[in-house]
Amino acid sequence: MKLMIGLTALAVMALAIPVRGQDSPESLYKAKCQACHGPDGKGETAAGKKLGAKDFHSPEVTKMSDAELFDITKKGKEKMPAYDKKLTDDQIKELIKYVRTLK
Ligand code: HEC
Repeated sequence: MKLMIGLTALAVMALAIPVRGQDSPESLYKAKCQACHGPDGKGETAAGKKLGAKDFHSPEVTKMSDAELFDITKKGKEKMPAYDKKLTDDQIKELIKYVRTLK
């Protein structure tokens, strides 16, 4: 019986890990946001500078609420593309949390 539980747990883990790896906020950020916002969120990439992406650490951005950042990511703003068709609300929420942790 113990062995069965152990094997089931292993199978669940083996299934869960690759899925989580692909959908983690970090890998989503790298795949979809980093080109403009940069690995550190400073927006110091060629595209970020050209389009006017702000530093996520600037007071302008840190004073915005999570809800405002969520809306900008979902609906887009100026040159910032809208992600409402590409990401779920939960994914956007996770991304905003992730963006706040970038140093
Ligand atoms: C094509 C380049 C581009 C991509 C890709 C992009 N952004 Fe942006 N983003 C911008 C620009 C430019 C702005 C500034 C918009 C403005 O205020 O005029 C912006 C603004 C934002 C803001 C509002 C705060 C700020 O810096 O002004 C958030 C939050 C944000 N982006 C998150 C994301 C997330 C999360 C992704 C990935 C899902 C992403 N962006 C992908 C260009 C981009």
